[in-house]
Amino acid sequence: TKDDRIAKISSAIRVIPDFPKPGIMFQDITTLLLDPKAFKDSIDLFVERYKDQQISVVAGIEARGFIFGPPIALAIGAKFVPMRKPKKLPGEVISEEYSLEYGTDIMEMHVGAVEPGERALIIDDLIATGGTLCAAIRLLERVGVVVVECACLIELPELKGRDRLGDKPLFVLVSAD
Ligand code: PRP
Repeated sequence: TKDDRIAKISSAIRVIPDFPKPGIMFQDITTLLLDPKAFKDSIDLFVERYKDQQISVVAGIEARGFIFGPPIALAIGAKFVPMRKPKKLPGEVISEEYSLEYGTDIMEMHVGAVEPGERALIIDDLIATGGTLCAAIRLLERVGVVVVECACLIELPELKGRDRLGDKPLFVLVSAD
């Protein structure tokens, strides 16, 4: 069943305390990647949800959205668009600044990768404060793309990132309390 698959995905994600700094419980998806059945189940759960939603763009967020986004994109017949850290993309880009715990960061996307009116799904491994997904939504909406939903493997509900997305739907496989 769906719940059995989610339970196995959840237990394949390793939690490493105090990484990268004291007090942080790091959700490590590399152990999920070592389990081909659980990894495939995670992709399949997204594909089952999005295959009939006329989505033409899967936007993956660097770095771990680059692991989960492409297999989903291939399975639903959508293009994959990388949302990158600054100065990585060689072509003309549009940029969006967003705030972090300390300071700010910038997300970039290639101009011309998407057309106005396309329907997009945004993929990342994890939502914490929601700042990263908000920046990705803004970037896509600025060029006229319809963001259908954001999807992550893991949500940290205590950080209330979901609230920051406003009325934009968020779908997650696992909630880490
Ligand atoms: C992590 C995670 C998300 C983001 C979520 O990435 O993979 O992209 O943080 O945080 P937020 O909801 O508070 O914005 P990280 O900053 O570790 O970058 P990396 O994937 O390049 O290592």
